[in-house]
Amino acid sequence: MNPSKRRTVIAGNWKMNFTPAEATAFINEVKPLVAGKNNCDVIFCAPYVTIAAAQEAAKGSDIKIGAENVHFAEKGAYTGEVSAQMLTACGVEYVIIGHSERRQYFGETDETVNLRTKAALAAGMKVILCLGEVKDERLNGITNEVVSMQTKLDLKDVSAEQMKNVIIAYEPVWAIGTGLTATPEQAEETCGVIRDVLTSMYGAEVAEGVTIQYGGSMNEKNAAELLAKPNVDGGLIGGASLVAEKFKAIVDAAQ
Ligand code: 13P
Repeated sequence: MNPSKRRTVIAGNWKMNFTPAEATAFINEVKPLVAGKNNCDVIFCAPYVTIAAAQEAAKGSDIKIGAENVHFAEKGAYTGEVSAQMLTACGVEYVIIGHSERRQYFGETDETVNLRTKAALAAGMKVILCLGEVKDERLNGITNEVVSMQTKLDLKDVSAEQMKNVIIAYEPVWAIGTGLTATPEQAEETCGVIRDVLTSMYGAEVAEGVTIQYGGSMNEKNAAELLAKPNVDGGLIGGASLVAEKFKAIVDAAQ
């Protein structure tokens, strides 16, 4: 991380975990553990039905509660979807878009990721845009090409001004939920490639200001090494964001 240029952000992605009661209990447990750790922003992205309980429990702290997805239309016949207008009406500022599980299991493409990103930004939200290569792509040596393409397509027609509200989460798909982690060198290299693409799209000043997180089995043991890398500006954390002590240790590593 390079705190002189950009904000470090440690975000939990709860995925399909925690009922409202469980979220309340978790936030109450984690709140004192991360209090006063001002060198990073702390966010938990929650299932829609859990957001209100998490927000209520987080009151009086610096913890922010986000969503895990958003639709690109304002309203209409999209059964099961939720719009950016609905989220902002509920006081939700952050949203994850393009997570690999959405791409893998729910048919999300770079095109729909781009539409969702533009809709969320237009509604004034802050986006955590996820991208990353699958195992075969890394083994075939095309990681840089894949993340470059995703960065360009997912951010198509997003303005330099709007980039102030975009966080990118580099998540190698082979490292998600597998216990496998990119080495700090791999994470640094690929986050650097993403920043180079941002430089080509928006210029160096904008690119240097964008927070790029690493995600993929970041935990209490490997966080410090990963976060020590200059282009790794935080983490998007799955499993370890469900255990207060583990999450606290990651926030500590970011101080
Ligand atoms: P894990 O930390 O469980 O590997 O999940 C990472 C992730 O998908 C965060 O979005």
